[in-house]
Amino acid sequence: MVLNLLNNAFDATLEGSNPQPRIKLELVDAGECVNVRVTNTGRTIPQEVREFMFKPFFTTKPAGKGTGLGLSIVSHILSTHGGSVYLDTGAQETCFVAAFPKRQKR
Ligand SMILES: Nc1ncnc2c1ncn2[C@@H]1O[C@H](COP(=O)(O)OP(=O)(O)O)[C@@H](O)[C@H]1O
Ligand SMILES: [Mg+2]
Repeated sequence: MVLNLLNNAFDATLEGSNPQPRIKLELVDAGECVNVRVTNTGRTIPQEVREFMFKPFFTTKPAGKGTGLGLSIVSHILSTHGGSVYLDTGAQETCFVAAFPKRQKR
């Protein structure tokens, strides 16, 4: 699941012209959840992409490259277990957070 986020981060760094692209992976204890934070350098995600990027088959990548399923699968699996995945809009760079609940919801 985290791999989906890492692959997206990797793709985003390839698109840019940044001579020093970086991807950062962090684990944060967030109380009820453990947050996996994937941050990448790259252009900020336009509003129209933000609106649809968690929907199945939404992709901005060329045919054969993007399936548009990565974020929707992560979102579906995590929400089934009481977690979530979201873009941290307060972060300086592009940062996706996958929140894994410590306890299963009953
Ligand atoms: N780290 C990121 N930086 C910029 N755009 C992103 C990032 N992660 C996801 N996106 C956007 O969300 C879209 C959907 O992502 P995803 O569901 O993983 O499908 P795919 O990677 O196959 O396109 C991507 O096509 C891209 O436009
Ligand atoms: Mg993807």
